[in-house]
Amino acid sequence: MDNNYIEINKDAYNNLAKEYDERNYAVQDNFYNDIMFKDLKFKKGAKILEIGPGRGARLKNFCDYDLDVTAIELSEEMSKLCSKRAPKAKIINKNVFECDFDSPFDFIYMEAVIHNFPIEEAKKLLSLIHKWLKEDGILICTTTVDKIDFEGYEEKKDYKSNIKRFRHHYTEDAFEELFKKQNFKVLDKKYKEEIDDTRNKLWQILYVGK
Ligand SMILES: C[S@@+](CC[C@H](N)C(=O)[O-])C[C@H]1O[C@@H](n2cnc3c(N)ncnc32)[C@H](O)[C@@H]1O
Repeated sequence: MDNNYIEINKDAYNNLAKEYDERNYAVQDNFYNDIMFKDLKFKKGAKILEIGPGRGARLKNFCDYDLDVTAIELSEEMSKLCSKRAPKAKIINKNVFECDFDSPFDFIYMEAVIHNFPIEEAKKLLSLIHKWLKEDGILICTTTVDKIDFEGYEEKKDYKSNIKRFRHHYTEDAFEELFKKQNFKVLDKKYKEEIDDTRNKLWQILYVGK
């Protein structure tokens, strides 16, 4: 797989940024704030890295928890939304593979991002993340639950614009296997249903550690 998928994804998310910004995500936001983040017992000042924050809703939540927040976002347009929503976060507008860090993170968060990488690239990304995570750190990673494992370029069906980007679909087993093969241990797993006028998805949320 060449690196074309990065440029294609970057163009896609630049084009989708306005729609992401304007959509009402209240149901999802409540789930993350009321269920997920409460369980994580964030300590003030803990270091968190979000990869692919998109419009920056979760980044804002992390800043509200008084965490030391860094984000890496590929798309320029999404990065602008992040700066607007979460001005206290350090936002790095780059491809994640071009980044590196000297000191490790307590938490690394990737919501609906891992599936934008071909599986072989996702493995490389997870080995980078392994290096960036503290020994007792937690990586939280989400994707949808699919019945068949497959990948390729496809249009986003739940958005108005017919824009193609790279998408890997994971079964539950394949998703867990991906982390285990990169030397992570599965600590916990949650599910989130997303059913509204435009979406009908089941999300799997993995909490993994070293
Ligand atoms: C499906 S969106 C999810 C956005 C947000 N996390 C959410 O759940 O609403 C994927 C995001 O990951 C970013 N992304 C994709 N590939 C990336 C890469 N190689 N490096 C950094 N960010 C990337 C995209 O630009 C996009 O903003």
